[in-house]
Amino acid sequence: MNYDVKDIKLAKEGALRIEWANQNMPVLNRIQKRFAKEKPLKGIRIGACLHVTTETASLMKTLKAGGATVALCASNPLSTQDDAAASLAKHDKIPVYAIKGENHKTYYAHINAILDAKPHFTMDDGADLVSVLHTKRKDLLADVRGGTEETTTGIIRLRSMAADGVLEYPIIAVNDAQTKHFFDNRYGTGQSTIDGIIRATNRLLAGSYFVVCGYGWCGRGVAMRARGLGANVIVTEVDPLPALEAVMDGFTVMTIRKAARIGDFFCTLTGDINVIRKEHFTTMKDGAIVANSGHFNLL
Ligand SMILES: NC(=O)c1ccc[n+]([C@@H]2O[C@H](COP(=O)([O-])OP(=O)(O)OC[C@H]3O[C@@H](n4cnc5c(N)ncnc54)[C@H](O)[C@@H]3O)[C@@H](O)[C@H]2O)c1
Repeated sequence: MNYDVKDIKLAKEGALRIEWANQNMPVLNRIQKRFAKEKPLKGIRIGACLHVTTETASLMKTLKAGGATVALCASNPLSTQDDAAASLAKHDKIPVYAIKGENHKTYYAHINAILDAKPHFTMDDGADLVSVLHTKRKDLLADVRGGTEETTTGIIRLRSMAADGVLEYPIIAVNDAQTKHFFDNRYGTGQSTIDGIIRATNRLLAGSYFVVCGYGWCGRGVAMRARGLGANVIVTEVDPLPALEAVMDGFTVMTIRKAARIGDFFCTLTGDINVIRKEHFTTMKDGAIVANSGHFNLL
C-alpha cells in the first residue's frame, strides 16, 4: 500500500489521539458498529480530500468498517495532524497522502494520488478534488457516482460549476445540514479560529480591537468568542441584514476602510475574495494581525 506521511513512527501517538477524539463522537461510533455488521459500503471506493485530523480519522475508520475502500488526502496543507495521518496508514491500512505544511506541488500530487484510486464517491472540503477531477482528470468522471462537499467556499464553487452546466455528478452540500452550519461553523470555527490566532501570535485579545469581516455563521461565532475574551469587536458586512443583526447583537459595524485603521486583529469569514485589499493593508497599524477562516484556494 502506498502512502505519503511525515513520519510513520508518529502512528502510536496518533492512535491515542484518535481514540481520544472518538470518545466525543458517539453518533459516528454507533454508525461504525452498525457498519461493521451490515457492510453497506462493500465494493465502494471513496476518495476523500478533508482536513486530516483525528476526527476525520474516525470518519475514515467508520467508512472502512462499512466495507468501503478509502483513500485520504489533505484539503488544506496547514491543518494536517501528522500523527493522525501516520496512524491511519499504519494501523488502519488506509492510504493517506498528507504532510503538514506540504507545498503546492505536493498538495496536488496528493490529490492526484487519491484520484488514481478511481473513486466512485468523492468527499471534499473546498472543492479542490472535484476541480482537479473536472479539469485535469476528466477520464475518471465516468466512474464517479456522487460526492459530498463540506464547506461554504466549496459549495460556492460547486454552485457556480452547476450554473455553468459543467458539474458532472451530484454532490451533497454538507454545509446545508443544520447540525453543520448551526454548530460546526458557529461554535466550532468560532472557537478554533480564535484558538489558532492565539497560538500563532501569543497576543492578548482583551482590550484589543478585533475586526470580524462577514457576520455569517462563522463570523457570529468568532465575534461572540472574541467579545468573551474582552476584545472590542468591530464587524464589517456587505449584506445589510446580517449587518443589522450584528448591530442588534451589540457590535460596532463599519466599513473595512474605516476598520482597517483601528483594528489590531482582522479575521475574514466570508467565502469571498478581496475582502481586505492592498489599500486597506497600507492603512493598518504596524503589527496588525490578519487571519482567514476559510479555504485558501490554491488553484
Ligand atoms: N475553518 C473552518 O473550520 C470553517 C468551517 C466552516 C466554514 N468555513 C469557511 O468560513 C467562511 C465563512 O463561512 P460561513 O458559513 O460563515 O458563510 P456565510 O455565508 O454564513 O457567511 C458569510 C458572510 O460574509 C458576508 N460577506 C461576503 N463578502 C463580504 C465582504 N467582502 N466583506 C464583508 N462581509 C462579506 C456575507 O454577506 C455573509 O453574511 C467560508 O470561507 C467557509 O468555507 C471555515
